Amino acid sequence: MLDSHVVLVLLWLIPGTWGCEASSCVRPPTCWSTRVPGSHPPRHKCPDNDLCRCSDTTLDCSAHYGNLTYVPYVEGTFRILNFSNNALRRISSTDFFANVSDTMRVVDLFKNKLVHIVPGVFDRLSKLEWVQLGGNRLSFKDVFAVNFQSTVQNLDVQCMGYLQVGPTDKGVNFSSSSVTQLNMNLNSIESLDMAAFNVTPILSTLFLRHNKLYNLTTALTSNLLHLNLGRNRLFDFPRTCTSTNDSLLPELVYLILDFNMISCIDHVCLPNVQHLELSYNLFQYIMSDTFSQRKFPSLKKLALFEMQTKMRNIAKYAFNHSALENLDLTKNALDFASSVVDSNAFVGCTGLSHLQIASNNFESVSKEIFSHLFGSLTKLTVLDIGESKVGVIYSETFANFTGLTWLFLYGNDLTHIPDGAFDGMQSLTFLHMDSNRIQTISEFTFGERVAKRLQMLNLGNNPLQCNCDILWFKKWLESMPHIFNHGDPYVCANRPHVNLQDFVLNEQACLLGSDAASFTIAITCVLLSFLLLFVIVFRFRWRMRLWFYEACRTSRQDRRRRLLAEGHRYRYDVFVAYAAEDVAWVQQELLPVLEGEWGLRLCIHERDFVPGKHIVDNISDCVSDSERVMLVFSPHFARSEWCQFELKYCQS
Ligand SMILES: *[C@@H]1O[C@H](CO)[C@@H](O)[C@H](O)[C@H]1NC(C)=O
Ligand SMILES: *[C@@H]1O[C@H](CO)[C@@H](O)[C@H](O)[C@H]1NC(C)=O
Ligand SMILES: *[C@@H]1O[C@H](CO)[C@@H](O)[C@H](O)[C@H]1NC(C)=O
Ligand SMILES: *[C@@H]1O[C@H](CO)[C@@H](O)[C@H](O)[C@H]1NC(C)=O
Ligand SMILES: *[C@@H]1O[C@H](CO)[C@@H](O)[C@H](O)[C@H]1NC(C)=O
Ligand SMILES: *[C@@H]1O[C@H](CO)[C@@H](O)[C@H](O)[C@H]1NC(C)=O
Ligand SMILES: *[C@@H]1O[C@H](CO)[C@@H](O)[C@H](O)[C@H]1NC(C)=O
Ligand SMILES: *[C@@H]1O[C@H](CO)[C@@H](O)[C@H](O)[C@H]1NC(C)=O
Repeated sequence: MLDSHVVLVLLWLIPGTWGCEASSCVRPPTCWSTRVPGSHPPRHKCPDNDLCRCSDTTLDCSAHYGNLTYVPYVEGTFRILNFSNNALRRISSTDFFANVSDTMRVVDLFKNKLVHIVPGVFDRLSKLEWVQLGGNRLSFKDVFAVNFQSTVQNLDVQCMGYLQVGPTDKGVNFSSSSVTQLNMNLNSIESLDMAAFNVTPILSTLFLRHNKLYNLTTALTSNLLHLNLGRNRLFDFPRTCTSTNDSLLPELVYLILDFNMISCIDHVCLPNVQHLELSYNLFQYIMSDTFSQRKFPSLKKLALFEMQTKMRNIAKYAFNHSALENLDLTKNALDFASSVVDSNAFVGCTGLSHLQIASNNFESVSKEIFSHLFGSLTKLTVLDIGESKVGVIYSETFANFTGLTWLFLYGNDLTHIPDGAFDGMQSLTFLHMDSNRIQTISEFTFGERVAKRLQMLNLGNNPLQCNCDILWFKKWLESMPHIFNHGDPYVCANRPHVNLQDFVLNEQACLLGSDAASFTIAITCVLLSFLLLFVIVFRFRWRMRLWFYEACRTSRQDRRRRLLAEGHRYRYDVFVAYAAEDVAWVQQELLPVLEGEWGLRLCIHERDFVPGKHIVDNISDCVSDSERVMLVFSPHFARSEWCQFELKYCQS
């Protein structure tokens, strides 16, 4: 936060020739106006002079670039005096503030060219609370020699350019009975002994950010709550234990150490630290127990964002801490599928609610690995796995995260969302899946309850295929723009320069299209079934007839037996089965011999079949009424279907 501010502030860097060598030394990011009640930017000229501007609370004599060397007299009682951006070199008289009333709470002397300030200068301002001396060229010795009223709580000496604890400043103590916040950011301090603040008993906030600190000697600082040592050159984690294992910083809650060169932590005595910021350091190995509850009993928030070196291992139980709520491992290029991250690394983090692991590598993480790593983190409310090459999610991937409210999956390689993937997540409200490779979104992806609960769903920047299947989504998007519009466009990948919102397709055509398709399929199926049935019936028509007669045969045989028993005589002696092509031979050769010479009675179908009766019945009756059957085998017989039937019938 602080750093991005500094960068922003650089943009409006006011040209000038003041003593700060670092170009980043500009108006501090500390926001006075939000902290000082009733301070408004003054817009009007003061009634009795035009050197300053006045408002109810503020006398603003800033920005005269050296033209103003004293505080002009202005009628009225003010709370804030702004004397910044003048080019005052020295304040050598204790009368300097004689023209202002003693109601003054804030004095801003930022960015003058002060090299000297008389110790008693603030003596007449008996209600002073904030003093801004930043952006000058004062030394520690000068600053700490000033007699701050016992009302002053905030002292800002950042960005002094030369301010460092040099040889002449050695042994200088900062003593004040009232200062709680001391801002020494953006100086050039290389070496500091915190014993210098021992005589400032209620100091609770100490900013030493953006110095050149490499040699920090800690000393018992009993009331310090907030220590910011970010952007320095520290190699070692500050010493926090006394020789008897008591804490040197017993009340410390916030410890900020980002942008240093720290690579390990061994022995710590920080019973109250809740927020530990270690991003941009040189940690390569995070051993078991490094951030355990035993070492940091009160830890809630731990940042290990973007190490300046490749992380080689996070060992098992590295974060064994049931009270840890917030863990940030963003931008470490950690391969979660490899042994770099032990699969038990997060075991014990049962209270974790925010897990930020974006910009790492989940390319080869199977659902088993994922579940082993994170499956037990059932208290999660925020999970950020953006830009981490996540290629696939399964419907059970997030099933255990019933409290998850924010899920970030932006910038991954997802091509598909399984139906109901988020249905188990009873709290999901904000979902970011923008900039993936999702082509289509099924109507069943989001269950009704999930869809109702979502307050933010970002699916922009995906190569959507605009066709009938996406129309439902387009409707949803248009009916609830506040859920979807977050700057990422919904572009149709298959139609150049067309956004989903502008994509038009006749809904009737889509409906018709799908109806017609199912109708055609149904009709085709019915026709095919009929055809198949017909083929089967045709192919087996003789066999089927035979089956039919078989079914009736029992009764026929009974009848036959009965007839035989009654001494029934057959109408024919022989039933002759022959092919139609052989009729000539049968009539001219066979008949004369068998009937004429031998006196047998033959049944031949040309002569004896009853006209009008079905041929099958004729065959059946003839066969039953004949004592014997004669088959006239010939090539024609083999080919004739009726003969085959007769043969089969006789065999049965
Ligand atoms: C200060 O003096 C310089 C030179 O005399 C002048 O150009 C500038 O406008 C003055 N600035 C103000 C704020 O009066
Ligand atoms: C007080 O203001 C007057 C005019 O505004 C100025 O002449 C005088 O020098 C100021 N006194 C001090 C101590 O700055
Ligand atoms: C004093 O004025 C400058 C602009 O000239 C402004 O940036 C700063 O916030 C003001 N200080 C206070 C305490 O209001
Ligand atoms: C600073 O304080 C320490 C400890 O209270 C004391 O020993 C030392 O003499 C003081 N130094 C100065 C210059 O007052
Ligand atoms: C670090 O500071 C301590 C005391 O402030 C001093 O004794 C020591 O020599 C310093 N070490 C280095 C390497 O400057
Ligand atoms: C302090 O704690 C460390 C680590 O827990 C231990 O090795 C050391 O013996 C302790 N020292 C004392 C004096 O108790
Ligand atoms: C995890 O921490 C708990 C509580 O501090 C402790 O009892 C347990 O032994 C630790 N587990 C491992 C595997 O270190
Ligand atoms: C869900 O949690 C249970 C119990 O902790 C565990 O056995 C299971 O593997 C987890 N499922 C997933 C998908 O992580």
